[in-house]
Formats: sequence, structure tokens, C-alpha cells
Amino acid sequence: MGAYQKRTKLFFDRDSLKFLWSYARAYRINLILAFITSLILAAMGGVLAWMLNKLVKDLSISMTLETVLFWAFIALLLMLIKGILTVVNRYIMTRIHISIAHDMRVNLFEKVIQSPISFHNASKTGHLSNSLLNDVKFASAGVIELFLALWQIPATLLFLTVTMFYFNPLIASTVCILFPFLSIFVSRISRLSRKAEFHYMESQARLQGFIVEALINIRQIKYLTMLRNQVNELNKKGKSMIDARMRATLLNAIAAPISDLLSTTSICVMVILAYNQLQNGSTTPEDIAGCLAAGVGLMKPLKSMSNSMIMMQQSFAAIKRILRLHSFCIDVNKNPVELPEKIETIKFEGVNFTFDGRHNIFKDLNIAFKTGEIVGIAGKSGSGKTTLLNLLTGFYPCSAGKILIQGIDLNELNMEEWFSKIGIVSQDAQLFDDTILNNILHGNANATPEEIEHAIRCSGCEEMIKRFPSGNQTVVGESGCFLSGGEKKRVAIARALIRPLAVLILDEATSELDMKTERAILSDILKMKNNLIVIIISHRPEIFQYCHHVLIFENGNVNLMSPENAQVLVKAKN
Ligand SMILES: Nc1ncnc2c1ncn2[C@@H]1O[C@H](COP(=O)(O)OP(=O)(O)OP(=O)(O)O)[C@@H](O)[C@H]1O
Ligand SMILES: [Mg+2]
Repeated sequence: MGAYQKRTKLFFDRDSLKFLWSYARAYRINLILAFITSLILAAMGGVLAWMLNKLVKDLSISMTLETVLFWAFIALLLMLIKGILTVVNRYIMTRIHISIAHDMRVNLFEKVIQSPISFHNASKTGHLSNSLLNDVKFASAGVIELFLALWQIPATLLFLTVTMFYFNPLIASTVCILFPFLSIFVSRISRLSRKAEFHYMESQARLQGFIVEALINIRQIKYLTMLRNQVNELNKKGKSMIDARMRATLLNAIAAPISDLLSTTSICVMVILAYNQLQNGSTTPEDIAGCLAAGVGLMKPLKSMSNSMIMMQQSFAAIKRILRLHSFCIDVNKNPVELPEKIETIKFEGVNFTFDGRHNIFKDLNIAFKTGEIVGIAGKSGSGKTTLLNLLTGFYPCSAGKILIQGIDLNELNMEEWFSKIGIVSQDAQLFDDTILNNILHGNANATPEEIEHAIRCSGCEEMIKRFPSGNQTVVGESGCFLSGGEKKRVAIARALIRPLAVLILDEATSELDMKTERAILSDILKMKNNLIVIIISHRPEIFQYCHHVLIFENGNVNLMSPENAQVLVKAKN
């Protein structure tokens, strides 16, 4: 994933605002409630200043216990109302925040898992999980920071400024001169901060990507004695993340003391002016009390404003990463063509395919598969056998030409419908960390007991399940790590056979089995062949005796052969 390239010109990033609004608008009612509660809270700042003014005035006229108790009661009442409103406001805002984070995550997750395998091949699992967890968390916080920076804090500032002007226009206008300085400073720092936050998030994603990959490959790391090397690499990546975090933190931290300095300066200026005016009798103590209370009250929202601006940049940086991920994900076809009930032919017409744009795996490939046929595929390692299956399933898009399923272009089809008709047992069959039965049912959750039994029998799982004390309730471990390679393959075959199949693809599916089990499974599959297109990839020549014909892959060319000739050829090449 590329580096941060575009210069951040605008303080409020337009794309980020649009993105946030697309999620926030679903919570309009909550937002309106938050608007109302924060408006009342903002107005209360002015009320407190006005109250102080009244208290000083009343006390200067009659210093009685009654007056003091009356104002103490009013103050307590106001504090109680303020406390209740603050809790309600925070509750609503937190609900909006976590709901938006949830919606963003679901949406991004859906987009990521719908994307073609080519996208997943090009993306690191750790980077994707980092975006789904961290970027979404920071991005959604932007709604809260925008709410604070554009509404709650400005409303508070407005009420307090108006109060100040009401009591003492000269002091109020002097303090207001400081506002532009503060905003110029904050906007400069924020822009730098957004860039620093973006770099930090990138380094965090790299670190997570590295950790996830290391954990996935833990066996290889141990066996290849790469432990020290991995720890050193983690150390290096962690240090670069620390550097990036420190740069961002430094920029964020500078904002607080500078805004404190400006605030203290303005309080000092207010006190000097107040002293002067009281000396020459141009104001009264109660107006000074009201004006100073409002003026000092301004300092907290001013500081919160600079804090919010900085946090908002963190959100914009995270949104930039999410939007980039969205642009890499490929949209699913919104108006797909319905898959025909019966699939009897699959045709490759002039198909070209290349991974890198230079070297063609296939060039002008024209082949056809028909129901009732068992087609073998042979060819040396790396000749493109698995790639052909990835094209046929739609995992990879063709570089040119088309694949027609019962005459319909594969790109036009509803992919979910198409996948539901395919059973694949791939070279590296992976299982979920669940029971054997549930793994089989992943193929078809609505399978009847007869269909389950049939799939278990035909895949050779029966004997294995009988051997395990917990039978089909045996848990297989992460990626099926509690099972042997051959056992995993058998469960994967059962999972494929239980589907309402039109096409069955076995990619080295039986290579880890003993000859007897392999023969039993293949002859059972043969019995089902009339309603299926069966494609068997293998390096073992004996397998091709079960096929009607065999495709031999060589240097980007595909030649059709009889099973007998294919066996001779593959034996000779082995
Ligand atoms: N995701 C990928 N990105 C780039 N190149 C790839 C990718 N997957 C496979 N290749 C390359 O494409 C070629 C065909 O790979 P493929 O997996 O189809 O071979 P295969 O015939 O199935 O080999 P094997 O018999 O070893 O399974 C290989 O040269 C491989 O290096
Ligand atoms: Mg392969």
C-alpha cells in the first residue's frame, strides 16, 4: 500500500466529511437529541456567569443569609440539571460513535470478503484486520470530534462571548482578538498531525501484518530456525512504529501548552483591563464578575477545540486508509443474471490470463466441459492447472476472452449462485476450527441426514469417524491441525459432495490418500458423474483411467488427449 502522497491542503477533508455523513445520517434522531442537549449545556455556561453577576449585585445591596442560601440553591439546581444533561449527552454520543463504528466495520468487512481472491492475494491479512479494527475505530470517532468542533464547542463559545460582550464590551473584544491567532496555530498543527497520524497507522498496519503472518507460519518459523530473525524483524518494525507515534504525539502535545499560554495571556489581559476600569469607575464589580466568569469559562472550550481539531485529523487519516481500501475492493455486480437451473456446458473462449501483465499463463485458450464428463488435467508444476480452476470459479478475472456458463458470461452471473453449484477440494484444503460434522455442513447447511450420510460414505470419512472417540463431533482444530493431511482432504471431499453440485473440482484431492481409499472414493464419485462436470487435477497417471479425456498443460498451451495416451505421457515425464 502506497505512502501518503497528496498534500493535505484543506483543514476539513471533503471526502472524509462525505464518508462520515454517509454513516451518521442513519442516526439523525440521536444527533438531533445530542444537538438539543448540548445547546442547553452551552447556554448554561452563560447562565452561570449571569448568576455570578446577580449574586455580587444582590450581596452589594443586602448581605443577608437568605440571599446567600437562595443563590446557593439555584447553583445546586443548575449543577444538577447540568449533570443530568451531561450524562444524557455523553450516552447519546457514545451510542452514535459505537454504532457508526459497527456499521463501518460491517460494511468494510462485507466489501473485503466479497472481493475477488486476486485482491486478497495482493493484500496482507494483518493489514486488512488492522483496517477493520483500528482504522474503523479512529475513523468513526471523527463524527464525535466534528460534532464537538462544529457545534457543541462553538455554541458554548458563542454563549460565553455574548455574555462577555453584554457585561463588558471592551474586555470581550480584547479577548476576541486572540481567537484568530489560536485558530491559525491549531489549523497548522492539525495538518501536520494528520500526516503524522497517517504514517503511524501505516507502520502499525505493517507491524500487525508481520505478526499475523508469523503466527500463521509458526511451524515453518520453528522448523527453519527463524525465531531470532523474526524477533529482530519485529523489533525493527516496532521501533519504526514508536518513531511514527512519537512524531504524531509531539505535534499533538504542542497544541495543549500553546493554547494554555494563549488562554493565560488572555486571562491576565482581562484582569489588567478590569482593574483599570474599576479604578476609573467605568464599570461595576458585578459586571466585572459576570464578564470574568464568562471569560475564564471560555478557556476550557478553547482548549477542547484545539484537542478536537487534532483528534479529527486522526480520524481523517484513518478514513483515508479506509477509502483507499474501498477503492481496491471490487464492487459486486448489482444486477447479475440468474444462473440457469441446469448447467450442462462450460466454455473457455479465447481466454488469456496473466498475473503480472507480461508473462501469459494462458493465451487464446479454447476448451469446453460437458455434464457427464470426467476431465483430467495434467502438466508439470507451475503450468497453470490451479490457475485454470481459479478462472473457472471466478476467483480470478480473465485478462481477455470469456468463460461461458451455459452460454452466459461468468462476469454477468450472480457469483453466490454460481459458487453454490461448485464443489472444490483444493490442494491446500482448509477446515474451520469446528467439529467434523459442522465442517461438512459448511458445504450445505440444509443437507438431509441421508445426504450427510452419503457424503460421509463417498468421501471415505466413515472409517475415520468411527475411529475417533467423539465421532463426527470431533473438533478439528485451527485450519484442521488435529487431522492428518489425508483426513483433512476426506472431510473437504465430503464438504464438496454434500453441495447441490453441477461442477466438482478435485485439485490433487486424493494425492495424500493410500491407493485403496483413493480408488474407493473415485469410483463412488463416478457413480454420480451423470449429473456433473468432474475435473480432476493430478500428477498421478493412474487417476486418468477414470477420465473421459485429459487436458495436458505445457508452456501456455493446452492439448486434449485420450486417457491412455495421457497416462503414457505423464508416466514418461514423471
Ligand atoms: N497469486 C499469484 N500471483 C502471481 N503468480 C502466481 C500466483 N499464483 C500462481 N502464480 C504463478 O502462476 C503459475 C501457475 O501456477 P498454478 O498454481 O496454476 O500451477 P499448477 O499447475 O497448479 O502447479 P502445481 O502442480 O505445482 O500445483 C506459476 O508459475 C505460479 O508461480
Ligand atoms: Mg496447483
